[in-house]
Amino acid sequence: MAKNSLKIAVVGCGYWGPNLVRNFSKDKNCRVVLVVDRDNSRLKYIKKLYPQVEVSENISDCFVKSTCDAVAVSLPVSMHYAVVEKALKNNKHVFCEKPLAKTVFQTARLFRLAKEKKKVLFVDYTYLYSNEIGYLKKFCKKLAGSIHMIDMRRLSFGIFQKDINVIFDLASHDISILVYLLGQPEKVFASGRGHINNKIVDDAHLFLVYKNGLIAHAHVSWLFPKKFRDITIIAKNKMIFYDDTRSRDKIEIFDKGVSLESLPKPSYYATYRDFIYKYRVGNFLPKINKKEPLKAACEDFLKRILHNQSNDVNLSLNVAKILAASEESLRKQSFIIV
Ligand SMILES: NC(=O)c1ccc[n+]([C@@H]2O[C@H](COP(=O)([O-])OP(=O)(O)OC[C@H]3O[C@@H](n4cnc5c(N)ncnc54)[C@H](O)[C@@H]3O)[C@@H](O)[C@H]2O)c1
Repeated sequence: MAKNSLKIAVVGCGYWGPNLVRNFSKDKNCRVVLVVDRDNSRLKYIKKLYPQVEVSENISDCFVKSTCDAVAVSLPVSMHYAVVEKALKNNKHVFCEKPLAKTVFQTARLFRLAKEKKKVLFVDYTYLYSNEIGYLKKFCKKLAGSIHMIDMRRLSFGIFQKDINVIFDLASHDISILVYLLGQPEKVFASGRGHINNKIVDDAHLFLVYKNGLIAHAHVSWLFPKKFRDITIIAKNKMIFYDDTRSRDKIEIFDKGVSLESLPKPSYYATYRDFIYKYRVGNFLPKINKKEPLKAACEDFLKRILHNQSNDVNLSLNVAKILAASEESLRKQSFIIV
């Protein structure tokens, strides 16, 4: 495909959409031709930054045959399914913000439609393109079998969503990361409450249990005074801490471990202290190159179109299954097999 020949429309330009416009605008393989939002103030903002881009308040403009080859969707999650379906039916490649849809059935249906239409359907699980998560992936591979547990925190003050709970909004990131690092868990337990609006859970804890007994815990919240975005992995002889709120040194490796050491048998009878805990400590900061994950995600989407690559159905389906199991667990307050 010739330089700049792929025409993209970005639909939804609230908080996140402008990042898509910026990254696609900079990429030499495409051109942003249209930005759609029903809020005219958002369109004025975009027009100021990108005077050459057409803007519209009407979504149907991006389904018109000649307007664009691909649609990037950054709308509220409850709108994803209908808009992505329409875009695919109108023969557009689709880049959709996470999560793709609200149910497993809808997720599977959209991927089937994309296959029928021979179109790329890409779901933006942005973190999977970060160098730090790539580093964690190598760490998990190296220490496979000796990982004890994983703890994840994604806590901040807002932004409260109106159409999805905090698990769909924030934990979808953690779930995608976990599936990427370790594969699909066996079962899920979710606990949470809507403290501000009792119909929408705003603070939740998820326990994802793997067949080998490994437990991953994720705490997600819109009701926290400070921002936390971190992952801690505890393995037998190493511990790793990834803090995404830091501007540098986001990953710390702790060469820490604890072992039970038997004491030499005393010559007299003793029933206490026949072992001690032995601690080993040390840490270092690996050097990790900086890269904007969203830029890499946009590049991968374009590459998939240019090289006719197949869609990554499994990741999105696995995440959708875990989200569905979490919803069920919230209702039933029991473990749900994924
Ligand atoms: N990948 C990431 O790290 C990341 C980060 C934040 C948000 N997101 C995702 O991005 C998506 C959007 O989230 P957001 O926080 O930007 O939401 P937002 O509410 O700030 O933006 C949504 C925009 O859609 C527009 N819109 C709503 N209905 C419309 C309609 N009928 N026609 C045209 N425009 C309409 C709104 O005016 C708004 O500007 C969500 O899927 C969210 O999960 C992803």
